[in-house]
Amino acid sequence: MQTPKIEFGDIQGLLIRSYTFLPEACYVMLQFTEQAQVRAFLADILPGITSASHKRPDLAFHIAFTNTGIARLIPQERLITGFAPEFTEGLNTKTRSRILGDFDTNAPEKWHWGGDHNPVDAVLMIFAKDSAALENKYQDTAEILKRYNITEVTRLNTMNIGSKEHFGFEDGIMNPLIAGVGGSNARYTKEEEQNVIMPGEFILGYPNEYAKFPLSPRVKTGVEDVFDIGKNGSYMVFRQLEQDVKVFWEFIYGLSENDPHLQGMGPELIAAKIMGRRLNGEPLAPAAAGDLKNFSFAEKDKDGYHCPIGAHIRKSNPRDGIDDDPALSVKMVKKHKILRRGRAFGAPLSPDFDPATMRASGNNDKRGLYFICFNAQINRQFEFIQNAWCNNNKFDGLNDDIDPIIGFPFRETAFRNSAFTIQGCPVRKKINNIPQFVFVRGGAYFFMPGMRALKYLASVAGL
Ligand code: HEM
Repeated sequence: MQTPKIEFGDIQGLLIRSYTFLPEACYVMLQFTEQAQVRAFLADILPGITSASHKRPDLAFHIAFTNTGIARLIPQERLITGFAPEFTEGLNTKTRSRILGDFDTNAPEKWHWGGDHNPVDAVLMIFAKDSAALENKYQDTAEILKRYNITEVTRLNTMNIGSKEHFGFEDGIMNPLIAGVGGSNARYTKEEEQNVIMPGEFILGYPNEYAKFPLSPRVKTGVEDVFDIGKNGSYMVFRQLEQDVKVFWEFIYGLSENDPHLQGMGPELIAAKIMGRRLNGEPLAPAAAGDLKNFSFAEKDKDGYHCPIGAHIRKSNPRDGIDDDPALSVKMVKKHKILRRGRAFGAPLSPDFDPATMRASGNNDKRGLYFICFNAQINRQFEFIQNAWCNNNKFDGLNDDIDPIIGFPFRETAFRNSAFTIQGCPVRKKINNIPQFVFVRGGAYFFMPGMRALKYLASVAGL
């Protein structure tokens, strides 16, 4: 299929770049009061929103809305085709909890934000080159919020912990390559091709992996006129995931020291088996030296002897390894991709991420990941990965293995019964009773509109 031309000037920049050059960030959750005030507020901040064609070296500023925020801005009768049902229902509903495993400790009733008791209408996202630039922009924004009587529900501060996530693994390695973003002449190797995904999987208004346009909300703007308000926008999943780093390493060390089957394996290797990569990011599946991204499972690791079948990176991207047809697997997996844009919060348990220090530390501060990802169809992409792959204990021939990092069982019980298998020859090794390391503390589904759509939302007064 021909590579579509991307309208960078109409897309909010976070969809195209992850702003590694802007290491400081915060997310400001908002609640709206009066409709007219919200439109005026939008009109006020609009010139400051960063489009993908405008790369500032010091700052980026974005806005996205939840279902309740959108409902405030677009009268229902104006919508010809609506927003996706997952989005209009919202993340904190019973249906979504069942799909995602948000029970018990993860239940929306306990969330710090995004639950029924503390809903949000929108989020402002500020990325800055240093903390002074971040504070400046935040203070300006707080003034504007006050002016328009908009409530700040909470300010979520990220923490620049470098290229690692809190357990100590290198992060930010894999992300899909969006066809068209590198220009229509971009050339990819055969290995890279596995990871080149049509833009319509992430941005509305472009063909997707089915060679179709994703469903997009449209509004009536006149008797005959229709405006595609979804065009160049995207659905953004935002989940605050707290990580219990100490429990993670205590458990791993416990296995290494006390489990007769795992003794001698060493804690770092056991942890690597669980993640599918070593702490330094090196994949366990055979790959060309120094290549962290391009490897596959079918040919050299079909049985999971290197990278276990239930490892986090294999469950969340099985590449060519599902079923017995690698080409078909790649084609299928391309329909379940997400564009990850998360950032860490909280200080590391040990500044150098040393596992032995993390295991022994008595520090109880909160830390984790603001998991953020973009997709054009939440139920076929983010929810599918979490539900059909990570939470599914029967994934790819396994028996009782949910994702050891982010899997939550379907049943409404405590995490407990989950297992993890390290496939091997002549015998496999099995880890039982894996405790919960990752806890959901808040979240919402957002829609991040394109620039023209934002202008429209700011101007529909009097409709
Ligand atoms: C606190 C929670 C989480 C931690 C600590 C974590 C950790 C990691 C790490 C270390 C990697 C490898 C580095 C990389 O490829 O960039 C990774 C990859 C990945 N994770 Fe997670 N993750 C978490 C949550 C999630 C969630 C909620 C999802 C989606 C439901 C997810 C989906 C993925 C995907 C798709 C990849 C790329 C796999 C690949 O293409 O090879 N992760 N994660």
